Amino acid sequence: MTLLSVREVSKRFGGLQAVSDLSFDVAGGSIKALIGPNGAGKTTLFNLISGFLQPDSGEIVFGGEEIRKLSSCRIASRGMVRTFQHIRLFPGMTVLENVMVGRHVHSRSGFLAGMLNLPFTWKEERRIREKSLEILELLGIGAFALSEATSLPYGRQRIVEIGRALACEPRLLLLDEPAAGLNMRETGEMGKLIEKIRGMGVTVLLVEHDMSLVMKISDEVVVLSYGKKIAEDRPLSIQKNREVIRVYLGDDQ
Ligand SMILES: Nc1ncnc2c1ncn2[C@@H]1O[C@H](COP(=O)(O)OP(=O)(O)O)[C@@H](O)[C@H]1O
Ligand SMILES: [Mg+2]
Repeated sequence: MTLLSVREVSKRFGGLQAVSDLSFDVAGGSIKALIGPNGAGKTTLFNLISGFLQPDSGEIVFGGEEIRKLSSCRIASRGMVRTFQHIRLFPGMTVLENVMVGRHVHSRSGFLAGMLNLPFTWKEERRIREKSLEILELLGIGAFALSEATSLPYGRQRIVEIGRALACEPRLLLLDEPAAGLNMRETGEMGKLIEKIRGMGVTVLLVEHDMSLVMKISDEVVVLSYGKKIAEDRPLSIQKNREVIRVYLGDDQ
């Protein structure tokens, strides 16, 4: 069943058509990748899907509901959560606290009340803490729960960010370049982690430059070039697609 449907979506920045009449679907339970040279429009598309930007035209349907006009907060509360190309962790907060922030999307009392330490939030706070610890264990970083998040090596910070997104219990997780800045070993581990997350029933849409990772874990790949979709297929077919090869070789010259 289709979980996300992007239909003829366009976005222009001044004279630049960043995303052009773009359509594709993401099936529930799948891992789908968006690839393309720098400047192809991948991050812009993520911003459009997750409500950080409004499309000029087109429709975005998530779980059967048109979400084009919803704010990013409302979209998150409906079960679509993202990470960013550049890590955005809160400095001065522990790994656990960073993940707990994500969890507050679902809490009744809200983050502010939690920060103010109001009595009626204590119980809820404890529940959030337990759930967040569970997520850290699942991601294999439970041992770092009380470390300051930004003091961890870069690869682990990426995993903390994913933990924070998972704390919202998303149905759809958008990952913007999860392997950026990771070495080969860490990239392999990230691949396993993404497959594990899918195994938990979370659908994944990722933007990624590391082709070995994309080809290994994705069910389907969408290729963008100058804001347009030039191919959409299974990884093996994408690797043989002449237009895709041309775009990538051209990018290297
Ligand atoms: N907020 C913005 N204002 C103006 N131009 C932008 C903005 N965001 C992205 N762009 C431009 O849109 C194009 C697509 O960018 P982006 O979506 O970041 O590509 P990618 O993530 O595929 O590298 C680029 O030419 C970029 O310079
Ligand atoms: Mg980008």
